[in-house]
Amino acid sequence: MAQSPIKNFRTLNSLLYFLFIVLLSMFFFLGYNQVKDHFQTSNDSTKVYITPDSNFNHVWTAPSDWRMMYLSKEEKELVLYGRELIAHTSQFLGPKGTVQHSSNGMNCQNCHLNAGTQPWGNNYFAVQSTYPKFRARSGTKEDSFKRVNDCFERSLNGRALERDSREMRGILAYIKWLGSDIEKGKIPKGAGIFKLKKLKRAADPMKGKGIYEVKCQSCHQSNGEGILAENGKSYTYPPLWGNHSYNQGAGLYRISNFAGFVKYNMPLGTNYTKPQLSDDEAWDVAAFVNSMPRPKMDLSKDWPDISKKPFDHPFGPYSDGKTEIQHKYGPFVNR
Ligand code: HEC
Ligand code: HEC
Repeated sequence: MAQSPIKNFRTLNSLLYFLFIVLLSMFFFLGYNQVKDHFQTSNDSTKVYITPDSNFNHVWTAPSDWRMMYLSKEEKELVLYGRELIAHTSQFLGPKGTVQHSSNGMNCQNCHLNAGTQPWGNNYFAVQSTYPKFRARSGTKEDSFKRVNDCFERSLNGRALERDSREMRGILAYIKWLGSDIEKGKIPKGAGIFKLKKLKRAADPMKGKGIYEVKCQSCHQSNGEGILAENGKSYTYPPLWGNHSYNQGAGLYRISNFAGFVKYNMPLGTNYTKPQLSDDEAWDVAAFVNSMPRPKMDLSKDWPDISKKPFDHPFGPYSDGKTEIQHKYGPFVNR
């Protein structure tokens, strides 16, 4: 016998009602989890896949080579020579260099990846647009000539180049070329080194040692001295510490610079779209590498105004009463 239409309608009605409640609670559950995830990733620096920005569309890149046809012949030659010098510095200026012997065997490109064009790979995009500028390290207004020589004296633990040498003119022409399209005063997205969030704890060299052994040692070696190329002129894997590495006055000796560089560029092959280390790991490995011995230079003229020292400059005196150890490893934020 057929059921009455009214009863049918009621069953259908309660079924729909039931479905509605189930869907509603599913939505709430999913929504809550998403919100929760969001807060967890933004607070928890041990997660690896925190990207600097989910929108990579507007990261600045270098001008294409074909545009060099608009440069004069001499200018183009200088730019190309400059690029060679950045990529293969040691061939020209290293201990066995063909031009002179005035640097430690490293190449600028070891730290300024892809000849200074890699997004967040310590590129040169903001140099032409922001120099000359006042820099508190020297307490003077510096032009890019001075800044390039800073890296020769510190990162390459060597001697400054003459302003009118063909090598210096080449390097400056190349840096100018890279900055061709950047408005004066502007810093394009992806320039320089990424600034990581500061840790709430002190960075830990012992933890960093463990990370080094697993993630870095295969190339940079257990003694940190890297591996020379067969021609003995430059490094296949550059040194991270020891006599042939950057000195204690170099930018990488500040652990924030080291951690930001490594997070988005190391182990080799990593870039800003696919980091391998968590923020914590990057800070800890930075603390480890910068606790190892390296060459020294005279820093007595640096930071004439001590209150302008960066938070992680590891040499006193300071204006805030904290110790050198606290300035070297943190914690850099108050709990
Ligand atoms: C050991 C790593 C290392 C090497 C090698 C190195 N640099 Fe640097 N360089 C750095 C770091 C780190 C910074 C950023 C320092 C900072 O922000 O305090 C930097 C900054 C610079 C800047 C300024 C960038 C800006 O946007 O203000 C220039 C120019 C520069 N380097 C040129 C060179 C040249 C030319 C060479 C080769 C002769 C070279 N560097 C070799 C690590 C290195
Ligand atoms: C697969 C080999 C490899 C691994 C693994 C590796 N690196 Fe490197 N690293 C390189 C090479 C090669 C360069 C130079 C890049 C260039 O010249 O283009 C470099 C450059 C560097 C530099 C700048 C140059 C210098 O000598 O100071 C630092 C700092 C660095 N690596 C740190 C690390 C850290 C920390 C790790 C581990 C988390 C690591 N690397 C893992 C190959 C490697």
